[in-house]
Amino acid sequence: GARRDLAGRHVVVSAGGTREPLDPVRFLGNRSSGKQGYALARAAVARGARVTLVSANSALPDPAGADVVRVGTAVQLREAMLKAAPDADVVVMAAAVADFRPATYATGKIKKRDGQEPEPIALVRNPDILAELSAERARPGQLVVGFAAETDDVVPNGRAKLARKGCDLLVVNEVGEHKTFGAEENEAVVLGADGSETPVPYGPKEALAETVWDLVARALPPATDA
Ligand code: PMT
Repeated sequence: GARRDLAGRHVVVSAGGTREPLDPVRFLGNRSSGKQGYALARAAVARGARVTLVSANSALPDPAGADVVRVGTAVQLREAMLKAAPDADVVVMAAAVADFRPATYATGKIKKRDGQEPEPIALVRNPDILAELSAERARPGQLVVGFAAETDDVVPNGRAKLARKGCDLLVVNEVGEHKTFGAEENEAVVLGADGSETPVPYGPKEALAETVWDLVARALPPATDA
């Protein structure tokens, strides 16, 4: 039978990729489809959790049984996560969040002018949502799980990122132009703040989702019926 090891737990998962608008028709974005985050949300529902899915620009259908909050930008994603987190046992940041956004938003479509050089796009930093969620711990004993998209030196870069962000678990997946982003499969190493290292072989994103929940279920403090 199915494991109901997340029964009585509330998990909040972010998925998809943020879009940072330049003008009413253009944005800076990334290739995240939302598949990995949605697989996490579906698996958590199946394991008995109450699930809030904060979805950034994914075309996927809402997972049955999850509360879905739709957002566009990193700033909106942050607001939705901070709103949901105080009630969560586990927070998982699977969304690909833009590190920077355009410094200004043009209310009218940006025009090209004949014979003129294009204007450079000035960027400003977006908030680091994972670092903030990890530092704040909106609830005692709350587990915070991050993801990391790395193109090389996956484990050393992942270790450094885990320390920098302050989360409990970091799922490090190797990405490339046709790898992981938008794909059905993933391959990852799950790093724990306790030094643990769990390799997850190349396979469906559902399998990685189950491994993440296995590790989370093991690390959660005993449930209370408060
Ligand atoms: O959606 P799919 O097509 O299925 O692809 C899945 C995925 C590759 C997007 C997913 O598995 C993944 O790796 N997501 C995180 C991608 C990412 O943004 O990695 P990062 O190394 O840039 O960020 C590290 C962590 O910090 C992530 O948990 C990210 O959500 C978080 N972050 C990053 C920047 C920022 N400003 N705020 C954040 O919270």
